[in-house]
Amino acid sequence: MSKTLVSPLKSAPLPSSPLRFWHRGQMMNPGNVPPDRTLLDLLREDLRLTATKEGCAAGDCGACTVVVAEAVNGRLQYRAVNSCIKPAHAIDGQALWTAADLAQSDGTLHPVQQAMVACHGSQCGFCTPGFVMSLFALYQRTVAQGQTVDSHRAHEALSGNLCRCTGYRPIMQAACSLEADAAQAVDEKPIVAALQKLAATEKTGGNYLRPNTLSALLQARAQHPQAQLIAGATDAGLWITQGLRRLPQIIDLTRVAELRRVERYPHHIAIGAAVNLQDAFEALAADRPVIAPFGERFAGWPVRQSGTLGGNVANGSPIGDSMPLLIALGAQVVLMAWRKGRAVHRHVPLDRFYTGYRQSLLAPDEVLAWVVVPRPAPGEWLGAYKVSKRQEDDISAVCLAVELHVEGGRITAARIGAGGVAATPARAVKTEAALIGQPWNEATLAVAQQAIQQEFAPLSDLRASADYRRRILGQLLRRAWLESTGQATVRLEDLA
Ligand SMILES: Cc1cc2nc3c(=O)[nH]c(=O)nc-3n(C[C@H](O)[C@H](O)[C@H](O)COP(=O)(O)OP(=O)(O)OC[C@H]3O[C@@H](n4cnc5c(N)ncnc54)[C@H](O)[C@@H]3O)c2cc1C
Ligand code: FES
Ligand code: FES
Repeated sequence: MSKTLVSPLKSAPLPSSPLRFWHRGQMMNPGNVPPDRTLLDLLREDLRLTATKEGCAAGDCGACTVVVAEAVNGRLQYRAVNSCIKPAHAIDGQALWTAADLAQSDGTLHPVQQAMVACHGSQCGFCTPGFVMSLFALYQRTVAQGQTVDSHRAHEALSGNLCRCTGYRPIMQAACSLEADAAQAVDEKPIVAALQKLAATEKTGGNYLRPNTLSALLQARAQHPQAQLIAGATDAGLWITQGLRRLPQIIDLTRVAELRRVERYPHHIAIGAAVNLQDAFEALAADRPVIAPFGERFAGWPVRQSGTLGGNVANGSPIGDSMPLLIALGAQVVLMAWRKGRAVHRHVPLDRFYTGYRQSLLAPDEVLAWVVVPRPAPGEWLGAYKVSKRQEDDISAVCLAVELHVEGGRITAARIGAGGVAATPARAVKTEAALIGQPWNEATLAVAQQAIQQEFAPLSDLRASADYRRRILGQLLRRAWLESTGQATVRLEDLA
């Protein structure tokens, strides 16, 4: 008689991990919270804190925006996050503010609420709490530090909030008119003290594991291969809310100290897997300023504050934005595992990492630990382009990154990464071959345009038709030619 296999997960429920966060002057400890309970559901359904609204439940609209803060070097670091796709446990050891927590007990409005009232920025009750929280995060990061808010900063801070009644102008006006009110400053001292007491607590057991060190992370991965590894959960959160998947055990890598760093070396920079997208793009743009406007096209501010570069690469979506850029830059990924009682690692060039649609060389016990990006060599020219229906908070139809070296009018080296045109992010090796060694002129461009249009066989979907995608590839290559030869004097990104 065959033996019935019983899943250990079904036979013995995993012990619940504790969840503690600071809210309204006290440490909350809501008890038995499942690992895949979203922060929004915890707030609205379990704690009945209904000021935070649910719009899309997909990280797109910003209605559910809350602000979380972590204690770093004795100060609080504030982030606006989408609570609908954030596992509640991800804010363990942090402080939380919702739209109900800003006004004082006597009803005096917070400066961000006051600005919204004064500028007639409050339209409907769904989006306004989200806008107010994005403004509160902006206020804490800038105005409370003595800085002013210009329209670029305001735009960036509000890039994850949608308003369907088109009330953006007064909301932008409210953002740009924010003024500090010392009487309403957050008293950080008691919060930092309370959070610091929790910071050292490492969660290496239970249903939500949150290791603090790289070796603990690798061991957790080896011991719990069935657990869902997450970083910012900006992809994984959607599997819960849109895919209705249950995640009975989660390993969260965002607190791993070694992976929270960007390390700079003479020939490369190494971006840890827990570094959020905003910081990762800023680190890349420090060497290559053209990456700054490209990075600003990635999702919206809250997603860039939570999501990671490592998560983008590991998730391996064919329309992921960072991979075409990283492929063009010759980036490698460092994969690590715990085997035979020690940490082992290997370097894999990103253009060889993907093996098929959302498949990669990452083994079940491996973690993508670092993305390693070469520093620019003298004479490098880089163009990075994203074509999508909206300027921000939208996924690419096509993405193209072109790295060129031209000496004496002749192309000596070329690397091209493309997204949205194949089953994986891809390197355009045939197009590179059509360029290398040739004079960088209109005739070579025409050959390369033909090559890139033949190199890929894109699909038609809701974002673009196959024909449009193929044409856009050729047109983006033309743009790279115009820009790299100084013929294009106006860059669309600069206008935006
Ligand atoms: C509203 C919205 C807009 C978006 N816009 C864009 C966009 O413009 N461009 C774009 O490219 N993407 C976009 N995304 C997708 C998403 O934000 C990115 O893919 C993000 O980089 C994922 O990172 P994360 O840390 O959130 O990954 P998670 O969601 O935590 O993880 C995603 C997957 O990667 C795996 N993973 C994560 N880190 C590691 C690691 N270190 N090692 C091994 N595996 C790992 C996880 O196991 C999981 O399978 C958007 C998402 C949302 C919700
Ligand atoms: S409900 Fe729309 S972003 Fe969360
Ligand atoms: S504020 Fe809600 S639709 Fe405009």
